Amino acid sequence: MKVCCIGAGYVGGPTCAVMALKCPDISITLVDKSSERIAQWNSDKLPIYEPGLDDVVKQCRNVNLFFSTDIDTAIREADLIFISVNTPTKTCGNGKGRAADLKYVESAARMIAEIAQSNKIVVEKSTVPVRAAESIMHILRANQKPGIHYDILSNPEFLAEGTAINDLLNADRVLIGGEETTEGHKAVEKLSWIYEHWIPKKNILTTNTWSSELSKLAANAFLAQRISSINSLSAVCEATGADVSEVARAVGLDSRIGSKFLQASVGFGGSCFQKDILNLIYICENLNLPEVAAYWQQVIDMNEYQKRRFSQKIIESLFNTVSDKRIAILGFAFKKNTGDTRETAAITVCQTLLEEGAKLDIYDPKVEPEQIIDDLTHPTVTESPENVKKAVQIHSDPYSAVRSTHAIVLCTEWDEFVDLDYRRIYQSMMKPAYIFDGRKILDHERLQQIGFHVQTIGKKYQRAGLLRSWGIVPQL
Ligand code: NAD
Ligand code: UDX
Repeated sequence: MKVCCIGAGYVGGPTCAVMALKCPDISITLVDKSSERIAQWNSDKLPIYEPGLDDVVKQCRNVNLFFSTDIDTAIREADLIFISVNTPTKTCGNGKGRAADLKYVESAARMIAEIAQSNKIVVEKSTVPVRAAESIMHILRANQKPGIHYDILSNPEFLAEGTAINDLLNADRVLIGGEETTEGHKAVEKLSWIYEHWIPKKNILTTNTWSSELSKLAANAFLAQRISSINSLSAVCEATGADVSEVARAVGLDSRIGSKFLQASVGFGGSCFQKDILNLIYICENLNLPEVAAYWQQVIDMNEYQKRRFSQKIIESLFNTVSDKRIAILGFAFKKNTGDTRETAAITVCQTLLEEGAKLDIYDPKVEPEQIIDDLTHPTVTESPENVKKAVQIHSDPYSAVRSTHAIVLCTEWDEFVDLDYRRIYQSMMKPAYIFDGRKILDHERLQQIGFHVQTIGKKYQRAGLLRSWGIVPQL
């Protein structure tokens, strides 16, 4: 069997790499319109950082895994084609700011229709609105050459960045949606056969196409909703003396609720949650279900509130002005173990601080400096990119980033931040020295003992910090 995957990004790359590793009898060609991306996949420095990915790619590349810009040949030779292109939120036109932009999916479908000379199973791997398969089918069938048959399947991807290889190797479930016809069932069986190389058959779930498409949006909406729920309670904790970690533990021990995805934070980021919920909201509005749309909108609103609330807390704590103060930002990626910055909460935090006149010293172990500058000078973030460039310095070492700063703001939960020498850091900073832990990963008691003023999410430390600055050692 020959497989082609259109779109060599965060999903296409790891998915095909693991598939190639587990299916030595299948030849997989990953194609992309970006020749730069394909060149990186063929080099020693892959275009994305993902733990374990380098090893898998090294084992399979040019054996049964190929990266190419020759999209035509890959489509022509393939029996099964994954469409794994980006589906960002529309930035203009109908549904601007909410609907998923399907122009890349559509262009992939048109390429298939134009090039195919034999039967193809076309698999939606991208996250799409419910009933998108209908549009793909419409394009393919309207351009169908005589004697060629297409089957369209939905096979959404549930991997999370930073754990993609493990998620793919040990998927909780693989979901395949197909048409409820004999041919549809045969196509589902063929895709299922690929996954059965390493996923137990009982974990391969088959549904109708629309359920599969909607389940993907629903899963992301549920996950994000948990984070917004715990983040909403973090505000209550800060106002009452409750500790959100204790609340999350107590709530999560109820087996009906479960403990995962209850980590209060500066706000969720990443390319999926916001985009997919906005997409769901848009669908609901179009289906004339305004109450359902409003329900999910609140998950996004709460996330915006949390990002703003954290940024405001920093300014208020620093005597209500950060003008010309140097502030170190530790971590810029939207979560640890990835270099991806899409929708990262760090952008909102930096944007607010820059608008207030702060100078930022930013360190992230995996995000490229150019990416940080691109994000902070984007027209949606600033009207004066030159001023931003002057106010931002990117560091390749955390100790150099924090030197002579007034405050540290921790935006990403990288493990290495837990083990930094905070005594050394304290000595190199301006006094009073502040730490704002947006991820709740540091030992706050110890930081206070060193002399830091500590602020975090969902726990009030202000009193202890103030008392300490007056020379009184509080009971912690
Ligand atoms: P990405 O931007 O990293 O990669 C998409 C790639 O597709 C790009 O390299 C782009 O150049 C290429 N492309 C676009 N149109 C093309 C065309 N016509 N021909 C050839 N190449 C084309 O995106 P991603 O993060 O991999 O996401 C892909 C899809 O998977 C999206 O629908 C996303 O919602 C979904 N998804 C993403 C994740 C994630 O964690 N990133 C997880 C699950 C699902
Ligand atoms: C998510 C889904 O988890 C995955 O199944 C889907 O395929 C793609 O979208 P991803 O965005 O890569 O994956 O990472 P995820 O681990 O879900 O984290 C998303 C954001 O939520 C990150 O900013 C993370 O830091 C934040 N988060 C996560 C919290 O703030 N608290 C939590 O308890 C969990």
